Amino acid sequence: MHSFVRKLAIAIVSVGLAGTAFADTPAKPEAKKEAPAKAAPKSLYDRLGGKDAITAVVKDFVGNVVADKRINKFFAKADGAKLTDHLVNQVCQATGGPCKYTGKDMKTAHKGMGIKEADFNALVEDLVKSLDKFKVPKAEKDELLGALGGMKGDIVEADAKMDVKTAPPATKK
Ligand code: HEM
Repeated sequence: MHSFVRKLAIAIVSVGLAGTAFADTPAKPEAKKEAPAKAAPKSLYDRLGGKDAITAVVKDFVGNVVADKRINKFFAKADGAKLTDHLVNQVCQATGGPCKYTGKDMKTAHKGMGIKEADFNALVEDLVKSLDKFKVPKAEKDELLGALGGMKGDIVEADAKMDVKTAPPATKK
């Protein structure tokens, strides 16, 4: 009887110790785990590299626009520094960044300028040049251009959009 109790006690203690020892053993590395399925998707703002990267691209882009003979007449009286600032904040905000765009809405800002689709496309080309220069990857480039493309309807004016086929015949003097 005594020996049974002793054996039982030893058994309990050793199980206890084994348990403790087990609990203290660092978990064995498990078979390679998949990356967490729901990693928070990074905003386009972050993927572009944040405000400094956006500022560098926008500055270069404004430089391209000012040098672009196809469209620089539009910007003859523009305040380059202010425009750059507005554009940086606009892009930053539109891509999920922490900035606040405080300029005019796109329709008001471009009203009466007579911007044609070709002008819009020229400006987009100038932006693409900068995005390529700064090696912005295709996915981010496409996403940004998609967002800006959505503004086209507010920037290109209806009359200016008419091409030769749809414009009314020019009246002769
Ligand atoms: C997606 C395309 C475009 C975006 C995102 C954009 C954005 C802006 C912004 C944020 C401003 C400043 C508004 C303010 O001062 O409150 C602005 C002004 C202006 N934009 Fe655009 N714009 C676009 C296309 C164009 C095009 C195609 C032209 C002409 C070819 C143009 C010509 C101008 C001019 C002349 C100003 C006034 C600049 C000044 O007086 O300082 N924009 N634009």
